[in-house]
Amino acid sequence: MTKPIIGDALTAVAAHLRCPRCAAARCEATTDGLHCRGCGETFPRTDGVLDLAPAGDTSPSGDRPYEGSLAAVYGWMMSSPTRQRLDSWLLGLNVRQYYREVATLLERLGQGPHLEVPCGNLPFLGSTSAYRDTGPWIFADLSRAMLDQLARRLGPGDTAGHLLLRADVCGLPIGDGQVGGVVSLFGLHCFRDGDAVFAEWRRCLRPGGRLVLSTLTGDGPALSRRYYRFNQRDGSFAPARTAAEVIALAERNGFVIEEHRRLGSVLLVAASLREGGSTS
Ligand SMILES: C[S@@+](CC[C@H](N)C(=O)[O-])C[C@H]1O[C@@H](n2cnc3c(N)ncnc32)[C@H](O)[C@@H]1O
Ligand SMILES: [Zn+2]
Repeated sequence: MTKPIIGDALTAVAAHLRCPRCAAARCEATTDGLHCRGCGETFPRTDGVLDLAPAGDTSPSGDRPYEGSLAAVYGWMMSSPTRQRLDSWLLGLNVRQYYREVATLLERLGQGPHLEVPCGNLPFLGSTSAYRDTGPWIFADLSRAMLDQLARRLGPGDTAGHLLLRADVCGLPIGDGQVGGVVSLFGLHCFRDGDAVFAEWRRCLRPGGRLVLSTLTGDGPALSRRYYRFNQRDGSFAPARTAAEVIALAERNGFVIEEHRRLGSVLLVAASLREGGSTS
């Protein structure tokens, strides 16, 4: 007999998860992690992170999670508003405007649970009240190093209502139609199989669910295109998509674009599920 933890974030979201082994939506929180009543497997939670990802350093689609020195450097850059501003030079981005506009979209998401993937070390943590006021939030990334950074960043006051999950964006351990919002900031350019990613987001969202997406595009200023190519060399960035290709990808996978904006080489999109969830 497993013992549930009362008041814990995992208890709050366990019913919205599905087992990565047998896909049964019959999961419950235990003192050690997540237990599946379908196949009997228990998945441990260590140092605040529940690991539901396949073993290995890359995803089945060939995506490369940020581990080792890449995680250390990226995490250091993104954990300070001053260092985040370097992106204005590199990506032709008005960083203040980007943070303001994303925060507004997050605050409009409404009732949770919400999924953020990839969460990295959650650069928006200090820029929006959404993580406090709506939720519960499931923060997912394939990188153990980025999740460990996030676990350290979230103080005891911040951890309530948040689940840190190691998972692949193309195989999310979330039940069908279980989340109100999917947030994906600066991640799509790392994902090779765009159709699989959007199909997975569509599957996880409930009717009327919303998507907030930002991504680097391959048709930005020259310096940003060079930065893009540099990051492709070690596999951390996927083949580039133009802004028009990202929008077409979302639309053919059942999303209606409500707003979109180019900020330098970054595309920011707010979208919702097409009624009936159909694809085009
Ligand atoms: C550029 S970072 C963005 C992180 C964060 N959202 C931000 O705005 O700083 C890309 C993240 O995608 C993660 N990632 C790469 N492939 C992934 C996959 N297949 N599934 C989930 N996360 C993945 C990496 O580990 C990394 O944390
Ligand atoms: Zn199972």
